[in-house]
Amino acid sequence: MANVVLGVTGSIAAYRAADLARELMRGGCTVRVCLTPAAEKFVTRVLFESLTGQPCLVWAFDEPEAGRMAHIDWARQADLLVIAPATANILNKIASGVADDMLSTIALAYTGPMLVAPAMNPAMLANETTQASLRRLVSRGVEVVQPAEGEVACGEHGQGKLASVSEIASAAMALIGWTRRLEGRRVLVTSGPTREPIDSVRFLSNRSSGKMGAALAKAALWMGADVTVVTGPAAVPPPLGPKVVRVETALEMLAAASREAPTADLILAVAAVADYRAAEQHPGKMRRTEEDLVLRLVPNPDVVAELGRLAKPDAVLVGFAAEPTDDLAAARAKLERKGLHFIAANDVSQAGIGFESDENELVLIGREGSPERSGRLSKIGCAKWLLDRVAQALPGERETP
Ligand code: CTP
Repeated sequence: MANVVLGVTGSIAAYRAADLARELMRGGCTVRVCLTPAAEKFVTRVLFESLTGQPCLVWAFDEPEAGRMAHIDWARQADLLVIAPATANILNKIASGVADDMLSTIALAYTGPMLVAPAMNPAMLANETTQASLRRLVSRGVEVVQPAEGEVACGEHGQGKLASVSEIASAAMALIGWTRRLEGRRVLVTSGPTREPIDSVRFLSNRSSGKMGAALAKAALWMGADVTVVTGPAAVPPPLGPKVVRVETALEMLAAASREAPTADLILAVAAVADYRAAEQHPGKMRRTEEDLVLRLVPNPDVVAELGRLAKPDAVLVGFAAEPTDDLAAARAKLERKGLHFIAANDVSQAGIGFESDENELVLIGREGSPERSGRLSKIGCAKWLLDRVAQALPGERETP
C-alpha cells in the first residue's frame, strides 16, 4: 500500500483536499495530511484526522509519537508527497529550501517523487518568482498538475483555479504506479568522467559532469530499484540512497562495475569513459623542458561491452552516445558493436544540452523499431522518460497501470 503525505496549504481550495484525500484512499493509499498554519484557517486537523484515521501535522514541532521527529519520519516513510492546493508561498519556499513550518520542513527532508497542484490568483501565478520556482521544481523532477483557467475566488478571470480532484488523483496514482515499476530490480549505473593519470599531478579527462548519471540513479530509486552507481570524479554528487562506488580510472571503473554486473537487471552506462590512458605513468611530477613532448596512449577497455559479457542473459543494457551531429548512424553502430539493447544519443553540438548543462534531449534507439525522441527536458525529466521506455524490455514487465 502506498504511503502518501498530502500537504494542504492556505488557499480557498483547501476544502477540496478532503475529497482528494478520500480519492487517494479509495485508490488504496494510506494518506497522512500535513496542513500549513494558513491552511488551518480554512480547514481543520479534526476533519483530516477523522477522514484518514491518521494524525495530521501542522507545526514544525508536532510529534504524534513522543521522541520521534515527525518531519523526518514522514519524509522517510512517504512514497509520494502531494501538495494540493499549493499556494505561491509554498512553491517559492520549497523551491528555495525554506523550512519554517512542518510541511516545508518535510518537503526539504524528502527525497522521493513529488506532485504539486498550484492554486492561486492569476497574477500570483504569472509572477516571475513563482514561475521561476515552478521551473526549478520541474527541473528537480517535481510533477506539476497545472491549474485551470476560469473565474478564481477573488473574482478575477485567468489561470489559477485548482485542477479537478480527479485530475490530481489520477496524476498521483500514475506516479505511484510509476514508482513501483522497478521494484525488486537491481540497476547499475556507470557515471561521470574517468581520469587517466599522466604523472602525480596531471590527468586526461573529459567534460562529463555526472549530472545525467545522477539523474538516472535518482529516477531509478524513485521507481523502487536497488541502485548501485559506479562513478568517476563527477562535478555533482550522486543522489542520496544508492550504493556508490567511487573510482578514478577506466580500469578501476571496469573492475568495480564488473563486480556488480552479474546481478544487475538493468545496466545504464552513462559514464564518459576515457578511451585512452597514458602508456606509462611518470613517477612524481613531470618537469618542463624546451623539448617537444610525445605522450603515448594505449586504448582502455570498453567498459559497457565487457559488462554485457558478465551480465545475466536477460539483463537490459543501455549505452549513451554523445554525438556531435544529429546523424544517428554512429550511435546505431555503437549499439551493434557494444551488444547493447538500447542506446540513447544526444546531439552535443546543440547549445544548452548535454555536457555540464541541466537539460538534455535524447534519441532512444532500440534493436528494433524506430528511434524515439524525448524532446528537450530537464535531465531528471529525460531520466524518467528513458527509464519508462527501457523498463518495458525487462523480463516479466507489465505496462504501467
Ligand atoms: N563506453 C564504455 N567504455 C569505453 C567507452 C565507452 O563503457 N571505454 C560506453 C559509454 O559509457 C557509453 C557508450 O560506451 O555508454 C558510448 O560511449 P562513446 O564514448 O560515445 O563511444 P566510444 O566507443 O568511445 O566511441 P567514440 O569515442 O569513437 O565516439
